[in-house]
Amino acid sequence: MGGSGARKLGLPETGLYQIEVAALLHDIGKIDIPDAILKKEGKLTDSERELMNKHPEHSWSILRLLPGLEKASLYALHHHESFNGSRYPAGMKGEEILIGSRIVSVIDAYDAMISNRCCRRGLSHEEAVRHLLEGGGTQFDSAVVQTFVEIAKEEVADVFAATGVGPTAVI
Ligand SMILES: [Fe+2]
Repeated sequence: MGGSGARKLGLPETGLYQIEVAALLHDIGKIDIPDAILKKEGKLTDSERELMNKHPEHSWSILRLLPGLEKASLYALHHHESFNGSRYPAGMKGEEILIGSRIVSVIDAYDAMISNRCCRRGLSHEEAVRHLLEGGGTQFDSAVVQTFVEIAKEEVADVFAATGVGPTAVI
């Protein structure tokens, strides 16, 4: 999300760098999760899920060691919180969740939905947006979703063409 998105959400542009870093590196802690879990096709067991759900804490413990990335490390730590307080690691809800984490959460969910995986084809942009809008107020911050959708509408064709994922690649 670029400068225009930050302005629409009323964020100072000076904090953008930390959000960009968190958007890129929030899952870096998966490096500590065994491949057998990361690449498992099918459902994880409870204990595997428990290990997997530690990855935001691993990301935090790595990013916090890098000078100047303290904020980004906190955004990564809370990128799997849900707006209604139902997720991990802290069960934070609403505006208790740092805005950077709320933004990364939406970006991450969109990316996961449109990506092709081993066992399924990625959703179209329109389907992914529909899921984001449905999750506004429960899983996601509605204001963040609205801003993301506005920006994505302007940029989606360019992004899909550049990355080779999504409708242009799978149709
Ligand atoms: Fe994650």
